[in-house]
Amino acid sequence: MNVDGKHYRTIWLKETDDRVVQIIDQRPLPHQFIIEDLTTVTEVARAIKEMHIRGAGLVGATAGYGMYIAALHAPRNSVATFNAQLAEDAKILMATRPTAVNLEWAVKRQLAAMAEVANLTEKIQIAKTTAQAIADEDAEFCRRIGEHGVSLIEQISQRKPGQTINILTHCNAGWLAFVDYGTATAPVYAAHDKGIPVHVWVDETRPRNQGARLTAWELGQHGVPHTVIADNVGGHLMQHGQVDLVITGTDRTLYTGDVANKIGTYLKALAAKDNDVPFYVGLPSSTFDWEKRDGVAEIPIEQRDATEVKYIAGAHEGGTKTVLLTPENSPAANYAFDVTPARLVTALITERGICEASEDGILGLYPEKR
Ligand code: MRU
Repeated sequence: MNVDGKHYRTIWLKETDDRVVQIIDQRPLPHQFIIEDLTTVTEVARAIKEMHIRGAGLVGATAGYGMYIAALHAPRNSVATFNAQLAEDAKILMATRPTAVNLEWAVKRQLAAMAEVANLTEKIQIAKTTAQAIADEDAEFCRRIGEHGVSLIEQISQRKPGQTINILTHCNAGWLAFVDYGTATAPVYAAHDKGIPVHVWVDETRPRNQGARLTAWELGQHGVPHTVIADNVGGHLMQHGQVDLVITGTDRTLYTGDVANKIGTYLKALAAKDNDVPFYVGLPSSTFDWEKRDGVAEIPIEQRDATEVKYIAGAHEGGTKTVLLTPENSPAANYAFDVTPARLVTALITERGICEASEDGILGLYPEKR
C-alpha cells in the first residue's frame, strides 16, 4: 500500500544487504514513520513481543524471516549443531505471542522446508526463499480476500443505490497487520477503488489503540472516508441503522468457525446479531487452526502487561509522550483477545472464497484438510 504516494510492504529484505530484515516500526505511528533493521533472532523476537510489528499475518511473516536470520547465524560445524540452534530459535520465536496461530505455522513451515535438504548452504537458501514465499503468499491471499469480499459490499450497494455503505471494523486488520492489503480492509479498499461510496467506523481499540492509530492512518492514506469512534459506540450505531456490515480480522479461527480476535470483538458480534447486521471475518488460510474444536475452551488468550491499560501515549511536541491514565495504584488487567463463537459470525472471507463459519463451510473450501 502507499505511504505518501510510495509503495511499501510491512516487511522486506534490505535492498543493499539481504542479511538484514526491514520493518515499519508500528509503535510511533501515525505520528512518525520509522523503518527498523532486524539482524538477530533476539531482535526479531523483541519486535514481535513488544509489537514493533503486529497483526496475525505480519507476525507470521516476521517469524518466517526470523527463521531465515536464525539459519544465517546458526553454527556451521555440523548439521546436528545447526539444527539444534534452529530448534532453539524456533522455540524463542514461538514463545513471543500465543494467540495468533500464524506464528507457529510460519516457524513450522520453515523447519519443514529446511529439513528437505541436507546441505547447510542449501538450508540457508531455502530459509530465505521460504520467508519470501510466506510474505508473498500473505500479500496475494489478502488481495484475493479483497476480490471476494467486495461482492458483499456490492450486494448491499445494489440495495441502496448511490448511498454510502457504512462498515464497522475493530482493531487493525489492514495492510499493517499483514504484508500488504490486509483482510478486513481489503474489501473496503476494493469497493472504494471501484467507486462504491464507503465509510468506515473505526473502533479505537483500547488499550493499544490499533484502530485509532493504525486503521485510521491507513484508510486516510488510501483516501477512504472514515470516523474514529470510542470502543463502546458500535452498538448504538447499529441500533440506529448506521452500520450496514461489520468486517473484522482474526488471529486464530478454528475449523469449527470460532474466531479469536482483538479484545472487544465478541461484544461487537453480539450487538450485530441483536441488530441483524451481518458480521464478517476476513482471513488467509494461515490463520486457520485445524486442530482445536472449541474456541472459548481451547484458544490461548494472551495477557499483556497492565501498563498498556494504565498509560496512554500520543503526539507531543514533535515526538510521542506517555501519560498515566488511572490512579497510580489501581491494578489493571490486560486481556488482548476474545473469542467470538461461530454462531455469531455471518460468514468468513478467505482467499478461496466466502464460506459459512462452520466445519462444513470451512472444510468445503479446504477439502484437503478433511
Ligand atoms: O495485538 P495485535 O495488534 O497483534 O492484534 C492482532 C490484530 O491485529 C487484530 O486482532 C486483528 O483484528 C486480527 S487480523 C490480523
